[in-house]
Amino acid sequence: QAKPVEKFDESLAHLCEDMFASMYAANGVGLAAPQIGLGIRLAVIDVTFGKNPEAKIVLANPEIMHIEGDQREEEGCLSMPGIRGTVLRPSYVTIRAQDVTGKSFEMKGEGLLARAFCHETDHLNGILFIRHLSSLKRELIKRRIRKMRKAGDW
Ligand code: NI
Repeated sequence: QAKPVEKFDESLAHLCEDMFASMYAANGVGLAAPQIGLGIRLAVIDVTFGKNPEAKIVLANPEIMHIEGDQREEEGCLSMPGIRGTVLRPSYVTIRAQDVTGKSFEMKGEGLLARAFCHETDHLNGILFIRHLSSLKRELIKRRIRKMRKAGDW
């Protein structure tokens, strides 16, 4: 459980830019502060992989307000390279958050963006996407990670 972002200052703006840069370098569409060792409720998202500067989203203290529909798609996470699994998520998600300046906003996302809203908010609550998989699938993934660890590949 990450702590709320309280200070919206220049160092927060720098941190967000660093997070976008790391996310683009890893070809991700989202990155949450706990993934880089910071226990604060902050995430960045860009489902265009940096192609559209206006698609950059900073989510500080996000809250999911409304969900609708179902989508089942493969999902991965920068914290678990090479691991993917099919996760059930809502098709439409309305989120409320603060931007990098502390201003509150609401935004509706669908498809990949709806998925990213859920995935990143989960990170702030200490939840990885594999939590949403079946226990069998999760065990298989854990076994694979143990094997990779033994081989020094993780
Ligand atoms: Ni993730």
